[in-house]
Amino acid sequence: MAETLYQRLGGAERIAAIIDDALDRHAVNPVLAPRFRDKDLPRLKQLGTQFFCAGIGGPQQYEGRELRTAHAGMNINEQELLATMDDIVAALNGQAVGATEVSEVVAILYSLKGEVLRV
Ligand code: HEM
Repeated sequence: MAETLYQRLGGAERIAAIIDDALDRHAVNPVLAPRFRDKDLPRLKQLGTQFFCAGIGGPQQYEGRELRTAHAGMNINEQELLATMDDIVAALNGQAVGATEVSEVVAILYSLKGEVLRV
């Protein structure tokens, strides 16, 4: 059987490292930093890792809120979404993730935009 994206990305530890790096990038990205200034980054890293792993074939349980609820009232715009995607791509490249897998992650993030943009 074909490997899941979770397996091809190298499983829990490697994915946690990618999400850690992406959130650290958000915290210093001028477009995003104001959004994350007062947030519990370790908690967001944990929830982000769970969310992503659970969505791509991992055994993890996601314990966070629905995306639409978590982002409600934030009025997030396209520039911010693009900035998060740029940081995630940089984190994936930092872990030498292959181009096919990077494209798959980008497609997944893009598919979720309706859950986070101006909700
Ligand atoms: C497809 C894109 C995105 C995904 C998959 C995603 C995923 C998540 C997840 C899983 C959480 C934790 C939910 C919870 O707290 O229960 C979260 C929270 C959060 N996200 Fe996103 N997110 C996305 C886009 C964005 C964007 C574009 C921004 C802003 C610029 C953003 C800012 C935040 C903030 C500030 C929180 C913390 C909310 C709070 O605790 O008050 N997210 N996101």
